[in-house]
Amino acid sequence: MKELIDKLQAERILTKDEFVTLLTSFTDEDSRYLFSKARALTDELFGKKIYLRGVIEFTNYCRNDCFYCGIRKSNRNLERYRLKKEEILACCENGYKLGFRTFVLQGGEDPWYSLDKMIDIVSSIRKAYPDCAITLSIGEKKFEEYEQLFQAGANRYLLRHETADFNHYQKLHPPNLKAENRQRCLRDLKKIGYQVGPGFMVGSPYQTPENIVEDLLFIKELDPHMVGIGPFIPHKDTPLAPFPQGSLELTLILLGILRLMLPNAMIPATTALGTVHSKGRELGILAGANVVMPNLSPVEVRDKYSLYDNKICTGEEAAECRFCLENRIKGIGYEIVVDRGDYRRIVQ
Ligand code: SAM
Ligand code: FES
Repeated sequence: MKELIDKLQAERILTKDEFVTLLTSFTDEDSRYLFSKARALTDELFGKKIYLRGVIEFTNYCRNDCFYCGIRKSNRNLERYRLKKEEILACCENGYKLGFRTFVLQGGEDPWYSLDKMIDIVSSIRKAYPDCAITLSIGEKKFEEYEQLFQAGANRYLLRHETADFNHYQKLHPPNLKAENRQRCLRDLKKIGYQVGPGFMVGSPYQTPENIVEDLLFIKELDPHMVGIGPFIPHKDTPLAPFPQGSLELTLILLGILRLMLPNAMIPATTALGTVHSKGRELGILAGANVVMPNLSPVEVRDKYSLYDNKICTGEEAAECRFCLENRIKGIGYEIVVDRGDYRRIVQ
């Protein structure tokens, strides 16, 4: 398997068959080899720096009904909340003092935040924090809407494609949601000038190794600035509750593969990874991730943004997330930096 890992590093891509072989016959020794290569490459390009993004989960209302997601509209066992513009700005103020230079506004697809309201929120953050990056993660919209939000000051957009296989997509989503439209959104966002972040859940129900390979090939072709992957974790009040959670090991292997495929990419060690293992985020960094995304939402609402069961950093102690993570990262020889952490094409 080492030959395939060497080939992936040299050519930054493998054929479909090679990827399937790689994914289905990994040994522990192969993982160690992959992680050491991926980590060495990340250190060479980024040094020992880990970039911070502050996530503000500003609404848990959603008009969609994704089968895996705890905040889906059919979940009646959930207290819903929306943050006012002033509350969002207060999160940014707190975050700025803590050294955050990227704010990620994430939420369900909530029509209460009309385009005008979102433009107002984005431009207010832009005005107050001209040196910060604004990332949106608010789902599928029209080209013109993305364009206006970009003009208002948003720079980046996180929109996981979820799965590149159209049939698999329909097993995870109701018929009104289409993989095609999600992919269209990603292409539109890139065309407009956003730094974009597709991604997928590892071990989502019905996922096959071939599906994952399609995800990797889709991502390679899109050539994004960021990639977000994390294990699927069931949520008790969703139709996919009976399915097992995704594997930590496979998620780490995929982080390593993504680093070798896209050396310059900003790749987070996600909260979901930290949820399936107490050292998940540290292991993610050691496998090739270079970003962490602590929660900046008001502590009172954190447990209501419950995408999956047992999500970490939702209790009273969560106000300390920033420092907790800083210590964890120091513990593995890395340091959190006060920096926007924009994508740069360091190597061709
Ligand atoms: N509404 C926006 C969107 O559609 O992109 C952003 C919010 S959405 C909840 C963010 C991501 O959470 C999804 O893209 C999905 O991959 C992830 N997610 C949702 N439910 C999950 C689960 N049960 N386990 C792991 N990740 C999950
Ligand atoms: Fe809308 Fe999950 S179903 S954010």
